[in-house]
Amino acid sequence: MTEKRDFISIDDFSNEEIEVLFVIADKMNQLLHRSHGVLAGHLMGSLFLEPSTRTRLSFEAAMNRLGGRVITMSDAAASSFSKGESLADSVRIVSSYTDLIVLRHPQAGAARLAAEYAPVPVINAGDGGHEHPTQTLCDLYALRQTKGRLGGLKVILYGDLKYGRTTHSLALALVRFGTDVLCIAEPGLELPAYVRERLCAMTGTVEQGIRVVDENSVFSGKERQALLYCRDPQAWGIEDDRLKLDGVHCDAIYVTRLQRERLPKSETTLAQALPPIDARFLAHDAFVDAVVLHPLPRVDEIAHEIDGDPRSFYFRQAALGVPVRMALISFLLGHEMMRVERAKPRIFEERGKKRCQNPNCVIVSEGEYLLQRVWSDQEDAWHCIFCDEVL
Ligand code: NCD
Repeated sequence: MTEKRDFISIDDFSNEEIEVLFVIADKMNQLLHRSHGVLAGHLMGSLFLEPSTRTRLSFEAAMNRLGGRVITMSDAAASSFSKGESLADSVRIVSSYTDLIVLRHPQAGAARLAAEYAPVPVINAGDGGHEHPTQTLCDLYALRQTKGRLGGLKVILYGDLKYGRTTHSLALALVRFGTDVLCIAEPGLELPAYVRERLCAMTGTVEQGIRVVDENSVFSGKERQALLYCRDPQAWGIEDDRLKLDGVHCDAIYVTRLQRERLPKSETTLAQALPPIDARFLAHDAFVDAVVLHPLPRVDEIAHEIDGDPRSFYFRQAALGVPVRMALISFLLGHEMMRVERAKPRIFEERGKKRCQNPNCVIVSEGEYLLQRVWSDQEDAWHCIFCDEVL
């Protein structure tokens, strides 16, 4: 019997595997409107314990288009979770009914936990403010379609980078593919420390704290604090920690909304005061070839006036979720092969009695039955296996 594969973190697939998956997605894109039924007889359990439109419906559309069927639970209050059933028990049961589980859950690490207890493949459809790796596959596929490649690009991540889980998986993937990432966020909404540390380790450089200055004034004359992750800071023309936007040729700007539902009460005053992406913003020379991406839903961070601009790719990006998820499901259910180098599995260790202190980590809400383990990709930085925070 072949070992089951899950897709919990963007780390679970190597760059080579992602490239092959995209070739399968190209094929799926062509088959989309033809019924081919390769997964007839297979059943997907779709468990969505947080709101979702695109992710749930594109997963369900993908499974249906492959000829499989879907059972759904989209209301935690109407399930046994509300009676106090553990996540481990719930996924044990759902995996006895289905061949594949897609899980969205409010706690970081919930999908990792589910994968440990489910004998069927588990896909992380978003675990709290932690990761959203299938959205990253869609984001990368959109970049590949518009830019023709995933490496050697300059991408700006813009918005709530702390609570927006999509940017965590995406920043890690982009840097791994050799793309430079410039993060522009309001103070307090920067990428979490564990993501930032890993980006530095991957680029082999220290994080560059810079000020973005802009004579054309898309930022209303204000200098913006930003963090840069790149292998060659010289290529960005930074002087005295100042980056002139006029000298930058940006390939993509990835925008996220403020994740109000995840802001702790102490931080409710945090606002996304960055200017919206509008026609004036896109008129800047730095963005002449920049595609605008957004995981959606948008609130007010992208002006409706640019929806018809050829650089606005967010609706197409959402549509690509179906062929990409068709490719992923087919692979995890053994109907597609990827004969390329696999991602290195994480090596876990037990860590005595010390437990993760992240209040949003699944280990805190699920309690004692979970054994704390840690993993590391560099000396002295031991991450919780569920939420990746450093212990
Ligand atoms: C994102 C999510 O749920 O994290 N949406 C999505 O899945 N496309 C982004 C968001 O809600 O802002």
